[in-house]
Amino acid sequence: EKGGFDTFMEKEINEQPHAVADTLLGRTDADGHLVLDELLLPEEELRAVDKIVIVACGTASYAGMVAKYAIERWTRIPVEVELAHEFRYRDPVVDERTLVVSISQSGETMDTLMAVRHANELGAKSLSICNTHGSTIPRESDAVLYTHAGPEIAVASTKAFLAQITASYVLGLYLAQLRGEPAEQIAEVMRELQQVPEKIQAVLDGMERVKEIAYFMSDTRSVLFLGRHVGYPVAMEGALKLKELAYIHAEGFAAGELKHGPIALIEPGQPVFIVVPSPDSEHGLHGKVVSNIQEIRARGARTLVIAEEGDEAVVPFADVVIRVPATPPLLAPLLTTVPLQVFALQLSTAKGLDVDQPRNLAKSVTVE
Ligand code: BG6
Repeated sequence: EKGGFDTFMEKEINEQPHAVADTLLGRTDADGHLVLDELLLPEEELRAVDKIVIVACGTASYAGMVAKYAIERWTRIPVEVELAHEFRYRDPVVDERTLVVSISQSGETMDTLMAVRHANELGAKSLSICNTHGSTIPRESDAVLYTHAGPEIAVASTKAFLAQITASYVLGLYLAQLRGEPAEQIAEVMRELQQVPEKIQAVLDGMERVKEIAYFMSDTRSVLFLGRHVGYPVAMEGALKLKELAYIHAEGFAAGELKHGPIALIEPGQPVFIVVPSPDSEHGLHGKVVSNIQEIRARGARTLVIAEEGDEAVVPFADVVIRVPATPPLLAPLLTTVPLQVFALQLSTAKGLDVDQPRNLAKSVTVE
């Protein structure tokens, strides 16, 4: 049942090329137009949407953070991302032109369900991105876009996360298409997305080094994760995976925040993962993050750098460079997340922990 792997988590991490490919499957016609027949919200209502609020918990909320960058970029609709339990109890400003998008693997997370019910009561349109057919959240939403990751058994989410990000890209491109974005531009992003599964496979095939590093870090007490732009939610997810699987104190930060506080934590030997933006990123973001690496390295941090193939600028400041294939900057989380998942899995294994069933956690939390 574990397909030759020792744990469900290892199996599910390795299924990610399929999770992404299957979530893209059947969502375009022969001309490359997106067709989301399952969506069931009238096109006029979707066209009238003037604000999107994404609600989710845990890993799914980081998929929501990635979605914000892409959806705003492609649609120019303002997107807010909020933890479902915070949205529910703070009198949010939503109306019938607000699309509330929930993201949930299980479709049963009570905090997320309560947020969706609240959105419905306030008259918003509700759309669920969900991995479980017939579960409660999609049933109570006006529309659903299923992720096709297949059943996820390990408690901590991996393949569902990549599928959620993929589905949110599909949603963003679909909304852009409805709002008149040129078909060629949408088709171009879809073409890039179709190439992602084999790039994920390439990342998976190159993980020996990450496994070795994890093995030698099993007595580490704290790990920091830095990222910027879409790499910021990836850093948050890398930290969450390490907490969940290896019970190690971990924190994710926006790299731009470094000088506003976290740099005080840097002392000799402190391991820091840095998710480096593509050298093609706008606004010189790549150079800014390379400077951050330089700053923390100068203070003795051990720098574990996730960077695009061919990005040589990081090399002088990196103790370890982990390579991912080049992809358009907005799509990078589908690749840069993978080494962080593998790292957490291996560290957990090296510590002899139960990777699939971490202490105190449940796969779907059906209480508030
Ligand atoms: C947590 C799980 O309780 O719920 C996380 O441990 C998960 O892995 C989170 O990300 C949200 O779950 P779901 O099913 O709503 O995506």
